[in-house]
Amino acid sequence: MTSFTKSKSQGERALLLVNIGQLLTLRATSGKAGPRRGADLKELGIIEDGAVLCVGGKVVSVGKTKDALRDPWLRKNRKKVIEIDCAGQVVLPGFVDSHTHPVFVNPRLVDFEKRIAGSSYEEIAAAGGGIRSSVEGVRGAGKSVLAEKVLGALHEMAEQGTTTVEAKSGYGLTVESELKSLEAIRDAASRWPGTVVPTLLGAHVVPKEFEGRSQKYVETVCLEMIPRAAKSGLARFVDVFCDRGAFSVEDTEKVFGAARRNGLGVRAHVCQLTECGVSSLLEFEPASLDHMDHVSRSDISLLAERETVATLVPGANYFLGVGKYPPARDLIDAGVPVALATDYNPGSSPTSSMPFVLSLACTQMRMSPAEAIGAATINGSWALRIQERKGSIEPGKDADLAVFETNDYREIPYWFASNRCAFAVLNGKLVASGGSGELG
Ligand code: NIG
Ligand code: FE
Repeated sequence: MTSFTKSKSQGERALLLVNIGQLLTLRATSGKAGPRRGADLKELGIIEDGAVLCVGGKVVSVGKTKDALRDPWLRKNRKKVIEIDCAGQVVLPGFVDSHTHPVFVNPRLVDFEKRIAGSSYEEIAAAGGGIRSSVEGVRGAGKSVLAEKVLGALHEMAEQGTTTVEAKSGYGLTVESELKSLEAIRDAASRWPGTVVPTLLGAHVVPKEFEGRSQKYVETVCLEMIPRAAKSGLARFVDVFCDRGAFSVEDTEKVFGAARRNGLGVRAHVCQLTECGVSSLLEFEPASLDHMDHVSRSDISLLAERETVATLVPGANYFLGVGKYPPARDLIDAGVPVALATDYNPGSSPTSSMPFVLSLACTQMRMSPAEAIGAATINGSWALRIQERKGSIEPGKDADLAVFETNDYREIPYWFASNRCAFAVLNGKLVASGGSGELG
């Protein structure tokens, strides 16, 4: 499958973290298969005074510090190992930010001021702002400029504990500009030690030149963009913005069908602005359906039976000032698997901070700190269908860790708008916070 990971030569040196106050392994305790739901979402699998050994970019062993220090292999090879004393800090799986739009050139400051003055997201879009106003910049930019923008965002994310990022195109809206955006993602990913999962979002909005001919544009997405993105290995998923002012459920079914025929996974933005029935979309087994602000009771029941993850992006609600947040409690209590992501983008959620999203989840959606961490790690990995490699600290999984300068995990969402991440390990490579310098 297409996901861009660092080259094999990185992360070869063994790394041992000891004296971890709380090691949040997120290992499964219930024995149930599938993404975490209901009460299982808050099971963090905590080891106190823990240790983790990583070799060749993988987690090799996880346990108590005293046992690690007694290990015969470690005693023999101690000099070859980079040992880090965590001095009682918290270590958890690196965040899996499963929904971002990093390929854009400029912030949308006019939209920002208009909204402060009272216009809504949809009114701004109708007046020529919104997604379409980011298109010119992307169409006019060279691939390397876009790649630098993406790389900048990836570094910022890693400094806040994120080690895996889903990255969408979606501001090009021509075959060439969408492919250029995906190439920029690939280029940035090759220069970042973490893991990037690329998504084609050609069906973000109907571009101006197709106004009144939306079916022609859907055809272009299905017959040109998707086959080319699939053939070049530039995308793993196809996404659609299914909502009022963007694409209908019927359009979304067409795009999902084309994605499936071309061997790509599917996901969609749904129910952000209005309620839309998701039952027909579930037939395509989407990896995730995102936003969910206006999800209906009956759709919640349907989702509770599936492995489609409901990805909540409260940063968008915060930034758009809509006052209401997705019904996280209803979803979790009904047994729907829930993930959290930043939705990093210039229009509705310009934040790279997963800790801030966790804070919003706790204070605005009444998720517990433990639930928020489960949603941002193991369920994020399920939302990208990379749960075999990511989202928990277990032998055999990728060495993706976030180390926080606290001694209680609940402080991660508690201290909002401040970065307590000391450093992260991305595929075995150490990246310090407060600079993009790699230590390992
Ligand atoms: O997830 N809703 C659609 N897409 C983005 C917003 C994109 C933009 O405004 O530029 C979102 O909120
Ligand atoms: Fe989005």
